[in-house]
Amino acid sequence: MTDTTATTASHVHAVTAATDEDMRVLGRDLAALSRPGDLLILSGPLGAGKTTLTQGLGQGLGVRGSVTSPTFVISRIHPSLVGGPALVHVDAYRLGGPDEVDDIDLDMTLGESVTVVEWGEGVAEGLADDRLEIRIERHPDDTRTVHLRPVGARWTDIDLPGTAAGNG
Ligand SMILES: Nc1ncnc2c1ncn2[C@@H]1O[C@H](COP(=O)(O)OP(=O)(O)OP(=O)(O)O)[C@@H](O)[C@H]1O
Ligand SMILES: [Mg+2]
Repeated sequence: MTDTTATTASHVHAVTAATDEDMRVLGRDLAALSRPGDLLILSGPLGAGKTTLTQGLGQGLGVRGSVTSPTFVISRIHPSLVGGPALVHVDAYRLGGPDEVDDIDLDMTLGESVTVVEWGEGVAEGLADDRLEIRIERHPDDTRTVHLRPVGARWTDIDLPGTAAGNG
């Protein structure tokens, strides 16, 4: 057995996104790497670009419906229009913690979908041992750096976008 923690820590990648379209391009690139069962956890401050990135994922996966930030909906399923996995888009902003994430039964769809959890840091990690943790950093000039941290064997040999950035 190899030490997964050490392996993944050296694979953190950083991607610069100067515009919202860059963010969607990154989402489309990640969609091309995604498989059914994948969990992507998005974090970053208010307005960082989490939904914008998810829009790109939805475009890349070819799913139905526009990806938005609905006020009262916690989880929305976008079925595939191209015979691929659905996109399950979760906004955990109003959820109190891991127990409330459990309550929305994401494990029902996790296996056959690509699941994205906005504001998922600290609440959604328990859903899967393998996951891509995505942290968006917003700079004063309004550009973003997106830090991609693969966790678990699923992502070990995946060639992520961006440049390797150490332990991010
Ligand atoms: N890389 C980027 N550069 C500049 N602007 C961006 C970038 N990514 C997103 N934006 C813009 O930032 C605004 C907020 O984006 P978005 O709604 O995706 O953020 P969010 O992280 O989902 O916000 P919330 O915390 O409310 O869920 C939008 O107007 C979007 O077009
Ligand atoms: Mg959002």
